[in-house]
Amino acid sequence: MLSWDEFEQEETAVAEKSQAAPQPAPAQSAPQTAPEPQPAPVAQPVASQPADMSAQERARQAVENLDVAPGLEDLEMNAARIEVDDKRMINCRADLNQLVPFKYDWAWQKYLDGTANHWMPQEVNMNADIALWKSQDGITEDERIIVMRSLGYFSTADSLVANNLVLAVYRLITNPECRQYLLRQAFEEAIHTHAYQYCVESLGMDEGEVFNMYREVPSIAKKATWSLSHTHSLSNPNFTTGTPETDQELLRNLIAFYCVTEGIFFYCGFSQILSMGRRNKMTGVAEQFQYILRDESMHLNFGVDVINQIKIENPHLWTPEFQEEVTQMMLEGTELEIEYARDTMPRGVLGMNAGIMEEYLKFICNRRLLQLGLKEQFPGATNPFPWMSEIIDLRKEKNFFETRVTEYQVGGALSWD
Ligand SMILES: [Fe+2]
Ligand SMILES: [Fe+2]
Repeated sequence: MLSWDEFEQEETAVAEKSQAAPQPAPAQSAPQTAPEPQPAPVAQPVASQPADMSAQERARQAVENLDVAPGLEDLEMNAARIEVDDKRMINCRADLNQLVPFKYDWAWQKYLDGTANHWMPQEVNMNADIALWKSQDGITEDERIIVMRSLGYFSTADSLVANNLVLAVYRLITNPECRQYLLRQAFEEAIHTHAYQYCVESLGMDEGEVFNMYREVPSIAKKATWSLSHTHSLSNPNFTTGTPETDQELLRNLIAFYCVTEGIFFYCGFSQILSMGRRNKMTGVAEQFQYILRDESMHLNFGVDVINQIKIENPHLWTPEFQEEVTQMMLEGTELEIEYARDTMPRGVLGMNAGIMEEYLKFICNRRLLQLGLKEQFPGATNPFPWMSEIIDLRKEKNFFETRVTEYQVGGALSWD
């Protein structure tokens, strides 16, 4: 903790040190041969400033010239105030620095819900998991494969999602309340990656093996490759929206990440680990996954709302051909997740098997299609894991695992005495 007294002492110490510092020796004359390459000249901040100006005078002049400084042309002084109707999900020309007035109240509410659900991986007790993981017979080989593969896939998948959000999606969603949620989501993705790293470290796993599975285990690599293939064009810094083709490319990205990656690719691993927790095994890992699943279902719902709002504002983008393409994307995702289920469950385990998981994934695929207003592709598919829906709504699960009681410190670390 830093107090003002210490701060002043440090300041004095720094001042004394700089006074006592020896003067630099006069420059040596440069050797006559092989002159050193000179660095490229650095652009002056204000070209008209004479060289003999003091630093303070230069600063004063820079501030006086602020209104004509390049880079501020977007700040239109005394322009009309933002009206709700000026706001749009994409290609909006209204000032993006003004959060209010809200147009999309649901986006702001999701931001508030996200902050109300804050949690950190270190709060979860991992002791029972460590003992079980080290034991010879407490956990079967098939169960170990599931834990390893889940951590292998998710430890990098959440980084892919976070990078796509920050480097591709954020600048193209031109609405401040949605951006506020995107910032919250990006932080949650960081917490998720932290949670997987925390599990890997707690269990003493080979970090290199786990974090490289997305390049070394085919069923994981295929999912990662599929997600990455939908971020390439948008992560190009020159990519912009504004034509039907580029707007559709943004929609493809949102559907690939929110509906397929977060909406399908996460569900086999989540249900396997949570089924393990229900059997009182790896309860710490399962609790981490439970909090992550709650966050992820909010990410998915936010993404679906954004996609549907873009459709409402730009109906020309939602052509029959494009709907067909989106349906195929969902089917590809389902196929890849079924492959992952077969790879991670060569035999029945935890009251599940690849066939039951396939039914569940078809049920999930139907739901994702319906959420976007598209036709179900697996009529009659049912949910073999109704308990998953209950876990997503954590309020019903209060007594399921050990619940935590945590009071977050807000501004409590600073002392002013
Ligand atoms: Fe995540
Ligand atoms: Fe997410």
